[in-house]
Amino acid sequence: MKVGILTGGGDCPGLNAVIRGVVRTVANNGGQTVGLLRGWRGAIDGDTTDLTPENTDEILSKGGTILGSSRTNPYKNPEDVKKLLETYARLGLNALIAIGGDDTLGVANRLYNDHKLNTVGCPKTIDNDLSCTDVTFGFDTSINIVVEAIDRLRTTAESHRRIMVVETMGRHAGWIACESGMASGADYILVPEEPVNLEHMCQVLKQRREAGKPYGIVVVSEGAVVAQSEGLVTQNARVDDFGHVSLGGVGQLIADIIEKKTGIETRFVVLGHLQRGGAPSAYDRVLGTRLGVAAGRLVIEKKFGRMVALQGTKVVDVALADAVGKLKTLDPEFLRDAAEFFK
Ligand code: F6P
Repeated sequence: MKVGILTGGGDCPGLNAVIRGVVRTVANNGGQTVGLLRGWRGAIDGDTTDLTPENTDEILSKGGTILGSSRTNPYKNPEDVKKLLETYARLGLNALIAIGGDDTLGVANRLYNDHKLNTVGCPKTIDNDLSCTDVTFGFDTSINIVVEAIDRLRTTAESHRRIMVVETMGRHAGWIACESGMASGADYILVPEEPVNLEHMCQVLKQRREAGKPYGIVVVSEGAVVAQSEGLVTQNARVDDFGHVSLGGVGQLIADIIEKKTGIETRFVVLGHLQRGGAPSAYDRVLGTRLGVAAGRLVIEKKFGRMVALQGTKVVDVALADAVGKLKTLDPEFLRDAAEFFK
């Protein structure tokens, strides 16, 4: 059994734990694993590297991905799909494991449906917005990075009696903002799933101030929409291969509005790619390892067109088709619980 493996889309901590789990499991069953570099780009261009239990044993705690990644969409140019299929044949692959988010796994699903390619998916994103899995690895590390940042920002906010607006990633889902906001005791949390109520937010912040709290923390997800008319706040005009805009800047907008409406000095911080950097948490190392082992087993058992997933504490496999295409947005129950603290 010769297995190709790639990591596509935005990188995140835990990717190397998955790679290590796949390589070890495939080798334990007499197979061989080949890394395709930089996501689907490597599958198109035939850029590869040999992976062995020995040369992947010590990557568990390493952030990022040893294979590199990109937001390459082979379906943007039919020639690229052809080249990808040629690479698969030339390398003599029997299967391909794609580790990625909605976009990367969407391609894996299409290749399985359109070309009967033996693909298996492994869910990855700090945004935690992939369906059919309770949580994606990378998310735990990411919210811990945000909480640590907010614990630091609280001290300077308190010293200067300011409100600090913290902008998190998360694209169109509010998981990072909501869970890190709850974990850091934020005074207000803004997510894409709920229209922003500026009046209520400013009223709560003013009440806190009048009740003697000298500072405030507001966590806003990059995909939060301040006014339907304005729509999403973007950094620039860039659009990636999958049609995604570059979100960013809503934190500044919210900070300006708070200062104007409350008269309280306000600053903003955009955490950006810090949320994707560095070593994976223990939780993401274990989850990544279990998902990698499970993906390796699916290939050995010749179960294709499937994605490994976490449901409760069990690692299961689901149809790739069910996992892609429908975003897993923030469960309103989280926001309802968080909102107990905005009263
Ligand atoms: O999907 C992960 C993510 O980090 C999003 O939270 C964010 O909007 C986007 O990727 C940033 O993409 P890039 O790394 O291409 O700027």
